[in-house]
Amino acid sequence: MNILIINSKCCLLVFILCRICHLKENCTTIKRSGPNHKTGILKSQANESYQNNIRCYYYFEALPDERVELNFTVFDVNGVPPRCLHDFIDIYTQLDSLNVSLLDVPSQGRYCGKDKENLPYLIISVKNIALVDFHTDSSGDGKGFELIYRFFSDAIYKVGTKLQQYLCGFLISDLKEGTILSPTYPGIYPDNIMCFYKFQGEVGERIKLTFNDIDLYSGGNYCPFDHIKIYDGPNNEAHVIDTICGSRKVPIAFYSNGNYLQIFTVGESDETPSQLRGFNASFEIGTRFVDLSLVTLL
Ligand SMILES: *[C@@H]1O[C@H](CO)[C@@H](O)[C@H](O)[C@H]1NC(C)=O
Ligand SMILES: *[C@@H]1O[C@H](CO)[C@@H](O)[C@H](O)[C@H]1NC(C)=O
Ligand SMILES: *[C@@H]1O[C@H](CO)[C@@H](O)[C@H](O)[C@H]1NC(C)=O
Ligand SMILES: *[C@@H]1O[C@H](CO)[C@@H](O)[C@H](O)[C@H]1NC(C)=O
Ligand SMILES: *[C@@H]1O[C@H](CO)[C@@H](O)[C@H](O)[C@H]1NC(C)=O
Repeated sequence: MNILIINSKCCLLVFILCRICHLKENCTTIKRSGPNHKTGILKSQANESYQNNIRCYYYFEALPDERVELNFTVFDVNGVPPRCLHDFIDIYTQLDSLNVSLLDVPSQGRYCGKDKENLPYLIISVKNIALVDFHTDSSGDGKGFELIYRFFSDAIYKVGTKLQQYLCGFLISDLKEGTILSPTYPGIYPDNIMCFYKFQGEVGERIKLTFNDIDLYSGGNYCPFDHIKIYDGPNNEAHVIDTICGSRKVPIAFYSNGNYLQIFTVGESDETPSQLRGFNASFEIGTRFVDLSLVTLL
């Protein structure tokens, strides 16, 4: 009896120690953007299969005005999603610096398995750093992963004037046309990021917004989770032209009645990693659009 108790305590201690020791890392690889280094291939290990009981960090650090793209081409990590109890990778795309504590930043998702649908779809960082945090236990092995990384300018995500009070908010008043993209388009869009785009034309002008691609989580008829809301006016008290979630046949165009249009997008938290792109929409501000209210009067 006594021996049993001692044994179980001992096992518990070993278990706790192992949990702690497993938090240490065995290898860190850093790929940094440089004038002659904008793309490359990274393999999780040199050999046929990866080692047991390791934790490896693979950091990708772009310049401050760049983003990181990760395109996984090989993926064979021993485990069953979404729980991934054995080996897995956690992907982080919202790090400010290389030494920030991972407990303080949301993870983009945990991935394991080897079927094509388990392979993380294209990853694009929200800030200038991406991290692939690779964990393995003693259960077996796999081929690991291989990816193509790329550092590219973040200019395609910037439009008009950035509204400082929002992580993702823009006032578009001095441009006559352009494109707005969800924050990591065409990569998987992050959870819990709200974006806000306020279009403001001259008096007499109208705004045309054409969605070229819509790929959001569909939470049901009333879009209670991820959605795009389009307001026919300067603020969210204006008439709602449409609320979009899921996917839609594109292109689909929306027009403002006056010289303002506002759109507000929400990505809610989701337990399992989604593989959805978000949206791509073109806008035009001008006087040449037909006034739809006149058309119905005629
Ligand atoms: C790769 O395999 C060789 C030969 O089996 C071995 O000597 C080497 O340590 C292995 N390298 C790694 C990183 O496991
Ligand atoms: C990785 O590091 C942990 C903790 O230091 C250690 O227990 C484990 O044996 C290491 N794995 C390898 C393959 O070196
Ligand atoms: C990812 O890389 C593969 C292989 O080079 C390529 O065929 C594919 O188009 C790439 N995907 C994206 C989204 O760039
Ligand atoms: C990260 O490291 C740099 C220098 O290596 C240091 O100046 C900075 O304070 C560190 N940041 C955090 C969050 O620990
Ligand atoms: C957004 O959609 C337009 C029209 O289809 C396309 O030309 C453009 O390349 C797309 N932008 C991105 C970043 O995919």
